[in-house]
Amino acid sequence: MLLEIENLVVRYGSIEALHGVSFTVDEGEVVTLIGANGAGKTTTLLSICRLPPPEAPRVAEGDIRFAGRSILAVEPHDVVRALKMALVPEGRRIFGNLTVEENLELATYARRGDPGVVKDLERVFQLFPRLRERRRQRSESLSGGEQQMLAVGRALMTGCRVLLLDEPSMGLAPVLKYEMFRALKRLNQEGVTILLVEQNAALALKFAHRGYVLDTGRIVAEGPTDHLLSNEEVKRAYLGG
Ligand SMILES: Nc1ncnc2c1ncn2[C@@H]1O[C@H](COP(=O)(O)OP(=O)(O)OP(=O)(O)O)[C@@H](O)[C@H]1O
Ligand SMILES: [Mg+2]
Repeated sequence: MLLEIENLVVRYGSIEALHGVSFTVDEGEVVTLIGANGAGKTTTLLSICRLPPPEAPRVAEGDIRFAGRSILAVEPHDVVRALKMALVPEGRRIFGNLTVEENLELATYARRGDPGVVKDLERVFQLFPRLRERRRQRSESLSGGEQQMLAVGRALMTGCRVLLLDEPSMGLAPVLKYEMFRALKRLNQEGVTILLVEQNAALALKFAHRGYVLDTGRIVAEGPTDHLLSNEEVKRAYLGG
């Protein structure tokens, strides 16, 4: 198993956000974690990547294993460099005053001299032709959807093999949502493993192979996505009937 989250309890100070969450992601899979506002989706992703304080939620119990080894002590930059796992954060967080190209280049700082960089840049531009057209444009002048594409592109420029995505469809017009998910599907077909966090359960369950439903810090349903799509409780609570 590539990624194993076992009985994860996570706290922000005295607030417990995850109460013992377990799930797995196998190599080559697309797994989705769906849930309403405040369910703990972002917390789960941040716990896996462990961004530097003060944002970092604290893992109080449980374990996170990558290829069978605990990564709780791995430095956040090594999560990217050594494990090749990259986060596309909620709200994108790109540098608005830099151009598209500069944002993409910035993500390669840990790969200086790696000939794969040029190939990855071409791959990003093939996946998202709009980014190629706008590569010298300041990023703040991109539309929301284009900025989301840039955020995914930036993650790919780290050379990652595992993508953790925090609500990539958020705020996108339908046509851009479609473009985004088509690009993600292509990446998965090329071998990139995807853990997708979404409030848009219908979209996520159509896209992923397996899913987990997170409700206020607990997994309440799991299984192949076609099973979840026909699960009466999931339908009622997350699919609008
Ligand atoms: N920095 C923080 N300090 C304290 N509590 C936090 C912090 N970040 C999140 N929480 C709490 O942890 C719980 C889970 O939040 P989280 O952001 O993981 O939810 P989410 O599923 O990503 O929600 P959304 O769909 O709105 O993004 C919530 O109760 C939230 O209030
Ligand atoms: Mg969130």
